[in-house]
Parts: sequence; structure tokens; C-alpha cells
Amino acid sequence: MRIIRVNDYDEMSKKAASMVASQMILKSDSVLGLATGDTPIGMYKELVKLYNNKEIDFSDVKSFNLDEYYGLSDDNTQSYHYYMMNNLFNKVNIKRENINILSGIAKDIEKECLSYDEKIKNAGGIDIQILGIGVNGHIGFNEPSVNFEAGTHLVNLDKKTIESNSRFFESMEEVPKSALSMGIKTIMQSKVIVLLANGEAKAEAIYKSINGKICPEVPASILQLHNNVNVIVDEAAAKLLKNY
Ligand code: F6R
Repeated sequence: MRIIRVNDYDEMSKKAASMVASQMILKSDSVLGLATGDTPIGMYKELVKLYNNKEIDFSDVKSFNLDEYYGLSDDNTQSYHYYMMNNLFNKVNIKRENINILSGIAKDIEKECLSYDEKIKNAGGIDIQILGIGVNGHIGFNEPSVNFEAGTHLVNLDKKTIESNSRFFESMEEVPKSALSMGIKTIMQSKVIVLLANGEAKAEAIYKSINGKICPEVPASILQLHNNVNVIVDEAAAKLLKNY
């Protein structure tokens, strides 16, 4: 694992955007694995800036998002579809047909998940996968007690995740209790992984994932076995880390 310590959120976002941009410059038809949540918003802003400055071009890029809430349609303002259109896709020249996000309202969920993994394979695999991390160590929506062998599947969200996600919803009842998520197997097949973490709330999850033992209770700990992981952490999230 390559641990890149930065001072703050801004520096983390710029470094992450530079890594994605380098990948796109080296391979114009790169396959990007993308995350949602608060963490990558700054990175998306930087990518939009680089695009506006004509430093990067999305015309041949394909994207696959990590996850989507079960039961939310694409136009629901809380959906990850909506988030991605708002934060990135509507602001750059990616082709609509090259955007892949799991459907939260697919009639046949199993088929939706299986065909997602198939589509990733047919695209040649993910060149660079961006990840955030949950306070409980989740990546994508792979919650503690995860099955490391699983591909994309329907997940029951952990109590901590539901609580944390509730900040985006008006009431607890509205917070989805399940989601479709790329599995650990899918994530681990990405060629390069960039995990982003900022803020003190992530310090324990970062410490357990990097310094702790590899175990299903800490889903992100499996990343220790991947041969090209870059973790960009600000000082607050890195504060418990030892030997880095
Ligand atoms: C989002 C995702 C999640 C988040 C994680 C951190 O697509 O897969 O694993 O990355 O929950 O969320 P934030 O960034 O909001 O702290």
C-alpha cells in the first residue's frame, strides 16, 4: 500500500484528481470506477476544472459507479445517479452510453448485479477505482462481516451506515436500508485503487484497515492484499496510523 499523507481535504482532492487525470492522459479510453458521498466531491470539482482547461477529455472514457440505493429511481435527488450527474457527468463530455450505474429499481436485481460484473469485464476491467471509506470500514457498501468472494450484489446496510446516511434525508424512515454494491471481488479486480479519507471520524477505520489484520469485520482491510493501492489521507484521518 502506498500511503500519501496530505494536510487537508483540498490537497487530498487535488492529488486524487491528478491521479485520475494522469490515467486518462495515458489511456484516453480509460475505465473509471467512481464513488459518491462527501469525500470525492472536491475531486470531482478538480476534474471539472481540468476538463474546462482542456487538460483532460472524457469522450472515450467509460465509468462504473460503486453502488446505488435500493428502491431509489435515477431522478430521485438522493440517488447516486443524481449525485453523479450533478457533480460530474453533466459538466464534462462523457457519453451517456458510457456511464454505468446500478439501477436501484431494476425488476430483476440478481440479473442487474450479474450483468454489471459482466459489463465491467467486457470493458476490459476497471483501470482506476476511487473509494471512500465508511466509519465502520466499509468500501462500496460492503459492510462488516463481508464475504470477500462476492461480486456485485444486494446488501443490507449496517446500522452505522444507515445512521451516517440519514444526514442526507428528511427522516429516518426515508433512509434506504439496502443498496446494490460492487462486491469486494469486483473492487479487488481493479488495476489501480485510490482510497480517499479525510477527517477524524475516519481515523479508526483507516488505522484498522491499514495497520490491523485482514478480516471481514473491517472490509477495507482486504485492500492490503491488492498490489496497487494508493491511500490519500489527511492528517486527521491518518492520526492513528503507525509506521507510515
Ligand atoms: C459511496 C460509497 C461509500 C462511501 C463511504 C464514505 O459510493 O461507496 O463507501 O465512500 O460511505 O462516505 P462519505 O464520503 O460520505 O464519508
